[in-house]
Amino acid sequence: MSNLEQTLSIIKPDAVERNLENEIKKEFISKGFKIVKEKKIQITKSEAEQFYKVHETKPFYNDLCSYLSSGPIVVMVLEKEDAVMANRDLMGATDPKKAEEGTLRKKYGVSIDKNSVHGSDSVENAKIEINFFFDN
Ligand code: CMP
Repeated sequence: MSNLEQTLSIIKPDAVERNLENEIKKEFISKGFKIVKEKKIQITKSEAEQFYKVHETKPFYNDLCSYLSSGPIVVMVLEKEDAVMANRDLMGATDPKKAEEGTLRKKYGVSIDKNSVHGSDSVENAKIEINFFFDN
């Protein structure tokens, strides 16, 4: 059975700053993802706080929101069969030190904060996150 899904991907400030945007997009395309929507933006800290609200009780919440709003990011809607899990597999573990060889965070991430990419963690959150950035 086919299960075409969409997921939200963010190329984070550390990767945009290092001009990795096109390289990372090519990684998605080569794995069969279609970039359905995309935009390069800089969000405010309060927008980052809304986006990461699920983490609001975590000790790293404040730094995380400061970081995501610290520079331009690229937000994309990616489409593929089982896109949510496929993107999580491609990204690898949150902490680049623990990420498997060949994953985006292993290749490009510099720390648990500067881990280069974000991806939705479930189909339900993907819908919420896509609507957050692309509300049309
Ligand atoms: P992301 O997938 O964007 O979702 C939340 C982010 O919080 C995560 O990537 C990390 O960059 C960041 N973060 C910082 N510290 C931690 C931590 N201890 N555990 C999980 N995520 C963390």
